Amino acid sequence: MHYAQVQAFGQAPQYLEGPDLPEPAAGQVRLKVLASAVHRLVQMRANGKHFSATSVPLDPSSDGVGIDEATGQVYYVSMFAAPMLAEYANADIKRLVPIPAGADPIAVAALTNPVSSSWLALTERVHDLKPGFSVLVLGVTGTSGRTAIPVARKFGAGTIIGAARNEKALQALVADGSIDKYIVLGDADALSNATAALGHVDVILDYVYGAAASTVLSALQTNADGPPTQYVNIGTIAQEESISLNAQTLRAKNLTLAGSAPGSYSLTGAGKQVPGIVALAATLPKPADVVPYALSEVARVWDTDEARKKRLVLLPWGQ
Ligand SMILES: NC(=O)c1ccc[n+]([C@@H]2O[C@H](COP(=O)([O-])OP(=O)(O)OC[C@H]3O[C@@H](n4cnc5c(N)ncnc54)[C@H](OP(=O)(O)O)[C@@H]3O)[C@@H](O)[C@H]2O)c1
Repeated sequence: MHYAQVQAFGQAPQYLEGPDLPEPAAGQVRLKVLASAVHRLVQMRANGKHFSATSVPLDPSSDGVGIDEATGQVYYVSMFAAPMLAEYANADIKRLVPIPAGADPIAVAALTNPVSSSWLALTERVHDLKPGFSVLVLGVTGTSGRTAIPVARKFGAGTIIGAARNEKALQALVADGSIDKYIVLGDADALSNATAALGHVDVILDYVYGAAASTVLSALQTNADGPPTQYVNIGTIAQEESISLNAQTLRAKNLTLAGSAPGSYSLTGAGKQVPGIVALAATLPKPADVVPYALSEVARVWDTDEARKKRLVLLPWGQ
């Protein structure tokens, strides 16, 4: 069987050939792997920068899509249910979610993890949202930030405010009706003023962190007589793991702080959300920045500008 593994943290996975998998154990199904996406999480694991990656050799994949050749059913394979950079995977049937007929396996592989990021933040990490709630998405132009828009609408968001550096991309999201308004993550004073002008927002979903998050939290206007602003950190695409947070910001504002990733929520609770997450991901169009490659090309395409800016999806059986 062909498969790919990182031999040393920080290096590209190598495409290898080894013995076939053992027969599936009781409760497992043998799947032919169709697609597995290189999410930011997967890149972090390959670099040894994620708590789930502790030793090499390692298949850094997190999830993917495979087909049970005996029945023809296509499944989403949940996070860490099986190594997915391989031609075949033996996975626990309880970790599989059937994908509706006709859904694009590449899009489902690319989008399920991004969709889960805002879905789990909104279901597991914030409380008591009223229909029509307002949400500010920091990093709304990224793959995960864009999927936060349909997720927030599904959970009843009334007003969606997008934030990112690329103003043209923000304008396009307003023009097509995806978001209601935007603020630009740029000059700190301008960001501070734009944030203050928003008034109260119910939820902040933050994929960016760093100085932008610090400025937004400091400038935020909250209402002591109303619901709090519930801030949830989801990512650190700005590559700044720490921020400055003035004590006055916490004392003078009606603000709650949380994060969303395994560790902050119960895996049992999150597992119950996966069918809904997959069902929504299966309805979304494949984004333009999703680029499929044969798994045999993994070493060549792994550490490129394209891999950093777009979403690679690796196909063990080729295009
Ligand atoms: N906790 C979870 O469950 C979970 C799940 C999925 C993702 N994440 C995390 O969420 C973050 C975003 O993921 P993603 O899938 O959306 O990634 P992505 O698609 O790579 O995000 C790309 C976007 O990030 C913005 N960006 C890039 N570098 C930036 C910088 N230095 N400062 C500010 N913005 C920058 C760019 O937008 P502009 O140029 O328009 O600003 C770009 O469009 C990552 O840290 C990822 O690990 C967490």
